[in-house]
Amino acid sequence: MFPTQRVRRLREHGIVRDMVCETSLSTNDFVYPVFVEEGLNGKTEISSMPGQYRHGLESLLTLAEDCVNAGVRSLILFGIPKEKDAVGSQAYAEEGIVQQALRALKNRGFPLLLMGDVCLCEYTSHGHCGLIQGHAVRNDPTLPLLARTALTQVQAGADVVAPSDMMDGRVAAIRQELDTHGFETTPIISYAVKYASSFYGPFRQAADSAPQFGDRRSYQMNPANVREGLREASLDVDEGADVLMVKPALAFLDVIHRVREANDLPIAAYNVSGEYAMVEFAAQAGALDHDRVMEETLLSIKRAGADMIFTYHAPAMARILRERHGA
Ligand code: PBG
Repeated sequence: MFPTQRVRRLREHGIVRDMVCETSLSTNDFVYPVFVEEGLNGKTEISSMPGQYRHGLESLLTLAEDCVNAGVRSLILFGIPKEKDAVGSQAYAEEGIVQQALRALKNRGFPLLLMGDVCLCEYTSHGHCGLIQGHAVRNDPTLPLLARTALTQVQAGADVVAPSDMMDGRVAAIRQELDTHGFETTPIISYAVKYASSFYGPFRQAADSAPQFGDRRSYQMNPANVREGLREASLDVDEGADVLMVKPALAFLDVIHRVREANDLPIAAYNVSGEYAMVEFAAQAGALDHDRVMEETLLSIKRAGADMIFTYHAPAMARILRERHGA
């Protein structure tokens, strides 16, 4: 009891504060999402995501070099193809934009872990993550296409694949396809607990992937549910997922925590486009201190239980950490 107990004693000296610090960020924590657009010369800023761009292939190589210099260790690629069609052919074409980008990055030998996002929505004319029949998104016929997308990405140089489509059974389908082709040691980071969230708005603008009719509620989760998320996670564990992702992050910190507690696998969280946009626009308006809010935000995701964070803040945060630790 007070005055015997004084919590402030451990807050007096800066070094003591550092010693009792329970959570810290490291450049090992981040995966940086990057957009690559087929046929683009240079880069175009994404108006809803200040500081983020759609890159042409040459510009992507420059970006990769900047990332390495900033201390970023991993990229996840999202593609914007020239042509979209009903079956999302460019997602699994050997000359698809993500496959080209992976090959170009691999050839340069950057010290980066390369990930491919496995989904059809950026490549389908209707903007849904799977094949459609009428207005229904079909599950089972989509699985071979997702498996082929993952395989072509790995053949092009992806070190990790991350399916974000939310079809049932896709982790098993991808695992089997990779194993059959000799890629049994390539990890799958499953977007296991992915919500039908309005925080994806800026991403869909960036990737031109908004559904042309309806919404994603028949395959992505209801933001009201957490037990269902635990079920999604355990099914993906059974199917062979190596890492479980929760997405979005900030409005779902409790879900990250619950998934962390219920599983032994590493946990990823995706600090999505809308979460990034909120910080950037509020800082631009002078309402928030950008760097401090960014750090506090990422720290909250780590504290909730994420081992890795997919975030558009990766280069900015990595640069700060490097300067601070002189690494
Ligand atoms: C593809 C996909 C989406 C995001 C990552 N992969 C969009 C969606 O599901 O509509 C969102 C990422 C972000 O908002 O930053 N399915």
